[in-house]
Parts: sequence; structure tokens; C-alpha cells
Amino acid sequence: MKEILSKIELLKKEKDAVILAHYYVNDEIQEIADYVGDSYYLSKIAVEVPQKVIVFCGVTFMGESAKILSPEKMVIMPEANADCPMAHMASIEKIKEVREKYDDLAVVCYINSTAEIKKYVDVCVTSSNALKIVKALPQQNIYFVPDENLGRYIASKVPEKNFIFNNGYCHVHDEIMIDEVEDAKAAHPEAKVLVHPECTMPIIEAADYVGSTSGIIDYATTSDAEAFIICTEIGILYQLKKNNPDKKFYLVNKNQICPNMKKISLPKVAYALENEINQVEVDDETRTKAVLALGKMLELSK
Ligand code: 13P
Ligand code: SF4
Repeated sequence: MKEILSKIELLKKEKDAVILAHYYVNDEIQEIADYVGDSYYLSKIAVEVPQKVIVFCGVTFMGESAKILSPEKMVIMPEANADCPMAHMASIEKIKEVREKYDDLAVVCYINSTAEIKKYVDVCVTSSNALKIVKALPQQNIYFVPDENLGRYIASKVPEKNFIFNNGYCHVHDEIMIDEVEDAKAAHPEAKVLVHPECTMPIIEAADYVGSTSGIIDYATTSDAEAFIICTEIGILYQLKKNNPDKKFYLVNKNQICPNMKKISLPKVAYALENEINQVEVDDETRTKAVLALGKMLELSK
């Protein structure tokens, strides 16, 4: 263990590399990362860091977004097959169809989407800035892809706009059931319920707080409450417990695990960096189109 940690440290210096990690990756990866955050923070920090090489401990769409925003940097994924299934759940044909059908339409795309899909949309959002961005858009009609649950949550907060939904979902969040949340509340009546907006509406309606991974961590850390029921992926517990060693955190089921995020390991980080493998490549045509939607997200979320 010690050996691999010093190897990664040496490689970082030798190659002028920085390690970024999402809150859902394994604890030991979050521990060695230079920056850990939610999807919005990671997309911003990837642009800001001065290092030439980014080792992105997350899933494909995160590495792709970093490469699209910073094409001059080398972006390495420790595990080439760590992909988010939801990122593929939007159809370019359907986007074209909806554009034909509606005037005054904005196609709003969750960052959890492929670079190819981002070419056809107007603006990207993450769970932490979606509400602000959708409210700021002048268009009356919003086609929200790929996540239906996040789309419905945002729609519930912006009733003045007309939403068209797409049937994408995150299996980790979509499978959290209301009876499980009710059972957890009955077992821990003192606990606040903290929910990621990739969950379905009944879970969102049962929440004391709804927000991105960073939002959930901030809420639990600044709250006077001592106990929390956590409706998102298990990896978030690392930071929650680190910030709040005396508070209690409860999950609601045994499947709050993203298998793709968990594919990343310390040996894979060391191997990928040493051999400069799994470099993210985005062709120029895709990049020049997709960067517009990502750039607009950064602009509108300021
Ligand atoms: P955030 O960290 O932006 O809340 O996203 C959650 C997620 O599912 C990332 O894949
Ligand atoms: Fe995709 Fe869900 Fe995993 Fe996030 S937690 S990477 S949305 S499958």
C-alpha cells in the first residue's frame, strides 16, 4: 500500500500530473486525490489546474468533459471501462424530432451524457447548477436529456416553463424506493433525509434537502442535526464521515453502489499514469460543437 502511494506521488511529480476524483470513487482514491468534488466542481477545476496531465478518477463523461474544455491537457482515465450507463440514454434522432416539433426550445443536457450527444444540445447542466441555468434560459420549452428524474425535479421548481422529458435514469438512484426511505425514517426518526435529484419524485418529496453530492455534504456538515438518511451513492460516506466524525449516516438499501465508479483502484491509477494509457480523445468536430454547451454551462452558472 505504502509502496503504491509513493509510486503515485513520484509519477505525479515526474509527469506534472494532478488527480481529480468524484465523491463516488473508492475511499482510498478520494484519500490520494488532489481535488475531490461533484461534477460541476470537477469540470471547473479541470480547466483551472496548471498541470499538464489530469488523472480523472470518475466515469467517461467526466474525462471527456475535461478534455473538451482543456484540449491541450492530457486526460487519463485509470479504468477505460468506467462508463455511466445513463450517459448513453439520449437519442440524437429524438433531439432532432423535438426540435422540429417545438419553437422556442432549449435542449438542456445533464453533463452525464456522451460527447456525441453534447454536440446536439444547447446547454449542459449538472445537479448543482441545473435550476439556476434553466431559470436563466429565455426559452419557454425545455427538452431535458438524458435524466428524467432530474428533469422532473427541475420542472417542479420551474412551473412557468413547459418540459419535455426523456426516459433516461441512473440505476443507483432510480432504484431507491419510497418504502425503504419510510422504513429508514421510522428506524431513525431524528434523522434528516438528504436526497440527490437523480432520485424519483416520491423520494424527493420525502426529503429535508435535495442537492448535488457537494450540496449534501455541505448540508450535513453545517446542519445542527446529528443523524442523516442518505439517498445517493455510498462513496459519499467517506467525505461525510471525514467532515463529521460524530454524526450518524444511514443508507436506505444495499444497492446504493455505482459499479463503474468502483472499478478505479490505486494500482490502476499508478499503471495508467506510468504508461500514459487510456488517454481521452475527442475528435475536433465533436469538440468544437460540444464545447459550446459546456462553455455555456460554465458561463451561466457563474
Ligand atoms: P454530482 O456529483 O454532480 O451530484 O453527480 C452525481 C453523479 O451521479 C455523478 O455521476
Ligand atoms: Fe452514472 Fe449513476 Fe454511476 Fe453517477 S451514480 S456515474 S449517474 S450510474
